[in-house]
Amino acid sequence: MVTITIDEKEYEAEEDMTVLQAARANGLRIPTLCYHPSLKPSGSCRLCVVEVPGRSSGRQTTMLSCILKVKNGMEVKTESKAVNRARTRAFKNLLQMAPQAKSIIAMANSFGIDPGPPPDGCIRCRLCVRVCKEIVGPGALRMEKRDGVNYAVPIEGLCIGCGTCANICPTKVILVEDRENTRTIKIRDEVIGKHPLERCEGCGKLYATPKFLDHIHKRTSSHTEMKSPHNYCSTCAKLFSDRVKSFSKRVQQ
Ligand code: FES
Repeated sequence: MVTITIDEKEYEAEEDMTVLQAARANGLRIPTLCYHPSLKPSGSCRLCVVEVPGRSSGRQTTMLSCILKVKNGMEVKTESKAVNRARTRAFKNLLQMAPQAKSIIAMANSFGIDPGPPPDGCIRCRLCVRVCKEIVGPGALRMEKRDGVNYAVPIEGLCIGCGTCANICPTKVILVEDRENTRTIKIRDEVIGKHPLERCEGCGKLYATPKFLDHIHKRTSSHTEMKSPHNYCSTCAKLFSDRVKSFSKRVQQ
């Protein structure tokens, strides 16, 4: 038998025990996910971290308690700033791989660790925010800090329904849904804009929102070559402009 100290209390342990086994034999809590008493420890989840004096330097260091063997006189801390940091990192890594795992979130919370929000598919590049403001104009999205994390969020009433934010999003986390005659643009479960759809004057297809068409007419009305406005979808607009070009060519010949 050896004597070890865990969190400033002395315990007896068998010589071939790991720190995790010794702690658990005495009813002490250390989080684990990859440990199973019938299997050899693998050290893959990294949750069972504890703080001990380093073997050669004697400086405090964090080690995996499922692998670390007990030693007579060993002093172990299961709670410390370094343990908390390493444990938080381990929980976050695990939740990156399994964001839907409620059991991991519950375990983190039971050890007083906030694992942060689950990944939402957004890489915070702000392309959607920038294109809406700098190119299209309305500025219907902005970055907002919620619980210390930045999110791209809609500004109510400013979306014109063009869908440029969704087209430019590299991870496709912004969705444009055209159902019946309504277009809905969403990020996560937040609606950026909901709009009726207008029909193309050429082919009759539902293709753009009134706010977007208005926006385009306002932006182009001062253009010297602008004729009376028509609402054509991109296919019809191309078709008609090709026809106009070939007609003018024939007239010139
Ligand atoms: Fe998973 Fe120790 S229990 S690394």
